[in-house]
Amino acid sequence: MLTPSTDPRVLVDTRTSDDAGVFRIAPDLALVQTVDFFTPVVDDPYTWGAIAAANSLSDVYAMGGIPITALNILAFPLSEVPIDVIGDVLRGAGDKCLEAGVAVLGGHTVDDPQPKFGLSVTGTVHPDRVITNAGARDGDVLVLTKPLGTGILASGIKQGIVTGGLYDEVVRVMSTLNKAAAEAMLEVGAHACTDVTGYGFIGHLSEMCAGAGLGAEVDAASLPRLPQIAEIRVAGATTSAPKKTYAFLGERVVMEESVDPLTRELLADPQTSGGLLIAVPPDQEHALHEVLRARGITSARTVARFVKGNTITVR
Ligand code: CO
Ligand code: CO
Ligand code: CO
Repeated sequence: MLTPSTDPRVLVDTRTSDDAGVFRIAPDLALVQTVDFFTPVVDDPYTWGAIAAANSLSDVYAMGGIPITALNILAFPLSEVPIDVIGDVLRGAGDKCLEAGVAVLGGHTVDDPQPKFGLSVTGTVHPDRVITNAGARDGDVLVLTKPLGTGILASGIKQGIVTGGLYDEVVRVMSTLNKAAAEAMLEVGAHACTDVTGYGFIGHLSEMCAGAGLGAEVDAASLPRLPQIAEIRVAGATTSAPKKTYAFLGERVVMEESVDPLTRELLADPQTSGGLLIAVPPDQEHALHEVLRARGITSARTVARFVKGNTITVR
C-alpha cells in the first residue's frame, strides 16, 4: 500500500482504484498521470509497441483527460535480441502516440531476460471535469465500447491457433485508441468511466459499483464479443484470471443459471487495451450511441444498468 499524500492538490490517487492519478497545478488545470507496461502479447515487435501504447494512453482517456506527453519504459535481453527489434517496438509505440497527438519525450531501457514494454503518460484535464470510476448514479446505463475476448484470443495467438483474419481483427481491436470513445463521452457528458484491462469487465464494473455505492444488472446477451471465441476456447485457449476474479468478488456477483460457462468466463476475461465503460443517465444513452457511431465506433453496446444495493446480477 502507498502512503497516502495529504497534499490538497491531489484530486485522485490509488485510494479509489482509479485509472490514473490527477494533480491540480492551477485553478483550471490538472495533470493526469499513469504508467502501464507488460510482457509481449504478440510476436511482432511493431504491433506489440502499438498495442502497449494504446493500452497506456487509455487510462488518461478513461479519466476524461487529453494525453500530451509519454515516456517509454523498456526491459529487454539486450545481448540476445537484435537492436532492430527494440527499434520496431519503439516505432510501433511512437506511431500510435503520433496518431494520438502525444509527444514521446524519451524513456528508459534496462537489461532483463523477460521483455516488458509500456509507457508513462501525462495528460491534462480541467479539475472540475475529471471523470472518475466512482460517479455512477442509480438508474445510469453502462456502455462498453470494445468487444470482449482479447484474453482468450491472445492466449490463442500464443498457442498459434489464432491466425489470419482473426489475428488481424484481435490486433486491430487491441491497438485501437480509446480517443474517439473518450471524445464521444465528453461530448455527451458522462457520470463515470473506466477502461477494461486485466481485471476484466466484471472486475472493473465491481470497482465502479463499489465507488458509487451501487449494484448493477448486467444483460449478458448484449455483451459485445470478438468473433470465433467459442471455437478458440474449445481448442484450448484460456487464462487463469476469471477463476481468481470470481473468487475475489465472491457473493457480490450473482450469476443466473441461464448464463452459459463461456459467457461467465468472458465476463472476467482479462483484456489488453480493452474498451471504455461509460456510465450515462438513461436520457443520454441514445445520444451517446449516436455520437459513438458518428466517430466510427460500431462495437459499442449498452451492457448494464446501475441499481440500488451492492450486488452485480448477471442474467
Ligand atoms: Co485503467
Ligand atoms: Co492501467
Ligand atoms: Co536512463
